[in-house]
Amino acid sequence: MKIRRLASGDAEALAAFYNGLSWHSRRTFRPLGWETTPEVCEGIVRDNHPERDRKFDLIAVTGGEIVGWGFLWHLDTSQPTLGLAVADAYQGMRLGNALMDRLMKEAHRRNLSRVFLTVVTDNERAWRLYERHGFVRIEAFRGDDGLPYYRMIAELGAEG
Ligand SMILES: CC(C)(COP(=O)(O)OP(=O)(O)OC[C@H]1O[C@@H](n2cnc3c(N)ncnc32)[C@H](O)[C@@H]1OP(=O)(O)O)[C@@H](O)C(=O)NCCC(=O)NCCS
Repeated sequence: MKIRRLASGDAEALAAFYNGLSWHSRRTFRPLGWETTPEVCEGIVRDNHPERDRKFDLIAVTGGEIVGWGFLWHLDTSQPTLGLAVADAYQGMRLGNALMDRLMKEAHRRNLSRVFLTVVTDNERAWRLYERHGFVRIEAFRGDDGLPYYRMIAELGAEG
């Protein structure tokens, strides 16, 4: 298993990973809506290009297939946002934990002062994982999709 930054040539595999997530996983993780396309994923690849650097996306790859995806988005705003998903067949093997380690290391490396995320309240595995990586719940709200969410924040203690 290799964890690396999303790069040129990964768009199709990322779309296949996303569209292959089960209904249950997509209920709690759909930053790209219910389905995506290689074109949309190509845009994410472009935003990872060092010249643009608006997004930092990590993928876990095995056998040429993406089985995990974690990201820091909105890096050009005051509200960087974290997202994370692991392919259903690979959940519960600590891959989510490994991606979180790498994402938080990157957040520190970039001197981000805060990182935000939202999580469905009944997704206890996810929010407990986030708590172990320094996130705290700051509010509960109902999403446009009718689901109850927590908004969480990690204060990284950097200046600015
Ligand atoms: C949430 C998710 C990213 C976690 O990744 P994962 O690789 O399955 O998780 P891990 O194997 O690293 O386990 C994380 C922790 O949760 C714990 N855990 C497992 N099942 C749990 C449960 N039902 N309730 C609470 N904790 C649970 C594990 O013991 C582990 O704890 P540890 O780090 O102390 O050992 C993954 O399950 C997933 O992609 N879910 C669907 C999409 C999603 O909901 N993404 C998050 C959106 S906010």
